[in-house]
Amino acid sequence: MFAKFILVTVLVQLACAQQQFDVLVEFGTNFSTLALETQNEIADLYEFNGEIIREFNRELLLELGRMVPAMREADSDFQAQIDSADGVDNDCLEYVRELRELFLLFQNWDVQDCAYYAHVDLQYDSVNRFLPYAITFLSENTRSISQVVESFGRNNAIAEFDALVQELDGEWEYYQTLAVSFGDFLFDEILLHANVADRVYRELFECRETALELQQADHEYILGYLDDNCA
Ligand SMILES: *[C@@H]1O[C@H](CO)[C@@H](O)[C@H](O)[C@H]1NC(C)=O
Repeated sequence: MFAKFILVTVLVQLACAQQQFDVLVEFGTNFSTLALETQNEIADLYEFNGEIIREFNRELLLELGRMVPAMREADSDFQAQIDSADGVDNDCLEYVRELRELFLLFQNWDVQDCAYYAHVDLQYDSVNRFLPYAITFLSENTRSISQVVESFGRNNAIAEFDALVQELDGEWEYYQTLAVSFGDFLFDEILLHANVADRVYRELFECRETALELQQADHEYILGYLDDNCA
């Protein structure tokens, strides 16, 4: 009778220990499932981020592409005007053509400046938005995979099993909240690229207008020499 009682007690304890261990395994499974899902979500966001950046760069290039033909056309009109000038001697024509080449150099620098500033702005935003946060999130998320073992090592699983489970419950809450809030945060980071891109395009547009105006002013200035035969 007594032996039977002991046997039952041992069996109950064993079953209990098994049950306790099952909870840990369940936690472990839940943590790694969540970590994997979150990791996939970050990977999707990463992909999306890259697409947005590529798209904005492509549009930037198109904008710059529009700038060059406009200035080239203005320059060939200008050359035609020089060539068809009346009552100007060859020395003066020669001098005016040299002036044109010199000013063309400055006009090229204007175009390069527009491209440079637009690129720097967009590049800074590409590197500093989203990516650093995504990396932080990824490493925090990876930590969750080994959370059960970590908590196990930190707690006295034999004497205070409930405390261990409580800690794991808390961590579970934390990672679930983290997954949602950080996912939203990263998504917003991606959308914020658009604000910078808008600003960059606006500035590029202004830069282009200014470059065209400067070119126009250069042409008027040089044509002034033709008016009085470089006197
Ligand atoms: C594990 O996840 C399932 C499904 O979401 C949930 O029902 C269960 O309570 C979780 N287990 C633990 C130990 O948190």
